[in-house]
Amino acid sequence: MQRYLLPESKQIDDIVISKVAVPKPKRGQALVRMYAASLNYRDLIIAIGRYRLPANKQFGVVPLSDGAGEVVEVGEDVTRVKQGDRVVNTFIPGLVTGQATVDSLGRLRGAPNHGVLAEYVVFEAEDLVILPDSVSYTGAACLPCAGVTAWNSLYCGPQPLLPGQSALVLGTGGVAVLAVQLAHAGGARVIVTSGSDKKLKQVLRVGASAGINYKSHPEWQEEVKRLTGGRGVDHTVETGGPGTLSRSVAATRFGGSVGMIGVLVEGQINPIEIMHQGLVVRSVLTGSRSMLEDLVRAIDFHEIKIVIDRIFPFSEAVAAYRHLEKAGHVGKVVISMDK
Ligand SMILES: NC(=O)c1ccc[n+]([C@@H]2O[C@H](COP(=O)([O-])OP(=O)(O)OC[C@H]3O[C@@H](n4cnc5c(N)ncnc54)[C@H](OP(=O)(O)O)[C@@H]3O)[C@@H](O)[C@H]2O)c1
Repeated sequence: MQRYLLPESKQIDDIVISKVAVPKPKRGQALVRMYAASLNYRDLIIAIGRYRLPANKQFGVVPLSDGAGEVVEVGEDVTRVKQGDRVVNTFIPGLVTGQATVDSLGRLRGAPNHGVLAEYVVFEAEDLVILPDSVSYTGAACLPCAGVTAWNSLYCGPQPLLPGQSALVLGTGGVAVLAVQLAHAGGARVIVTSGSDKKLKQVLRVGASAGINYKSHPEWQEEVKRLTGGRGVDHTVETGGPGTLSRSVAATRFGGSVGMIGVLVEGQINPIEIMHQGLVVRSVLTGSRSMLEDLVRAIDFHEIKIVIDRIFPFSEAVAAYRHLEKAGHVGKVVISMDK
């Protein structure tokens, strides 16, 4: 079988295909024929050596953490999945319920451990979730990191978003567009920021009620307040990072909540601003298998069509990385292993 490996050079163009025997599943494991994998911003910074990992832990590792495929063989004592099941893998191996634990980072796929950009991958059966027919392999591959992060931020904190409330979502990347779709499906009003009017038009078509261009409105938090009658939103999905957090805090209503997710924009915040707003600011570190199960069920029930910007063939993985790097996408970038 073929699989990609991350290079020592930390150059995306040096990510190479290598050949290796198809692995055998051991006790408790399942062998999956992969059909799709998606890229996250994390994968980009892993490849170029900017992700928070011990030195060179990405070298020689199969990239990407999120994929979907068909179970082709199971090891002894596996009852959770069977041959022929369509499955998606979880982002944090071994985390069945609850929030990320202190050892989660060391267990992740796509570095420091082998990921899913391969024709066949062996998983612990407990790290797989069975897919309903309505969810495609390419759509499912978008869920383990981006989808679960959006779901966790919106629905798994101490103040879950309620129907009729409002949410603010920053940007139009993978996490953001899924957050728009999930908040909309949950009956909330969604406001999105983006640096591009064209991208805003696209997210208005999948559930956002208003868009603000943060380039033409640098004080975009004022626009959010205006759009919410001066109150601010109930929940903010904060994919920007330290450079946007201060404005996100100002855009959120007194006593509302902020899911801290992103590391995109450098900057600083005075923590007193958070206290003055009486906010619940919560770190969101993807999430558990049970969140992925709830998310898959919600996507099936609401017939949500996951927004995929572009699907690249397996042979063009480097082009997929370059596409994500350009940040011209809306939603997810996916690689298909379907021949
Ligand atoms: N904590 C977690 O568990 C977790 C999980 C997943 C992702 N993340 C983080 O969340 C962030 C987004 O990840 P992703 O995979 O969705 O990335 P992505 O698909 O690459 O999307 C990034 C998007 O961010 C937007 N952006 C760039 N500069 C911005 C700014 N100044 N203000 C607002 N938006 C800006 C851009 O959208 P526009 O062009 O529309 O502005 C861009 O398309 C990354 O920092 C990633 O590391 C964290």
